[in-house]
Amino acid sequence: MSNHFTAVISIVVAMFIGGLPHAVAGEVTVYKSATCGCCNHWIAHMKRNGFTVKAVNVADPVSYKTKYGVPLKLASCHTALVEGYVIEGHVPAADIQRLLKQRPKVSGLIVPGMPDGSPGMEQGNPPVPYDVLSFDNRGKAMVYSRH
Ligand code: CU
Ligand code: CU
Repeated sequence: MSNHFTAVISIVVAMFIGGLPHAVAGEVTVYKSATCGCCNHWIAHMKRNGFTVKAVNVADPVSYKTKYGVPLKLASCHTALVEGYVIEGHVPAADIQRLLKQRPKVSGLIVPGMPDGSPGMEQGNPPVPYDVLSFDNRGKAMVYSRH
């Protein structure tokens, strides 16, 4: 076996190992309840904005919030993962794009509850103002953007 071939194999193996935790760049994995329709509307919003989305129906969405450190008092319906960040609820794609570009040291973004007019929550009720929060691994939340 040539050294060159060995080197190529090593790189491929390194890429495989390195790529395991977060899957494909820009790919979003969404944990949601099978019966929740607004999650599907948010997924459609994400796809329209260029994200690849893998939806996973789970029996107990709350256990994923706990697992990924989402403060339960700020929880929403679905919990998503993208490139190592946690996205909780109806967070606009533009905020996620900014997050992935700037890569701040936070756990992820949250829109608590399900505010009318947020992406996926346009079911006819008048839109209400809402904040996107960032949160850290101690559960501390800060305003990331206002809508
Ligand atoms: Cu929802
Ligand atoms: Cu939902």
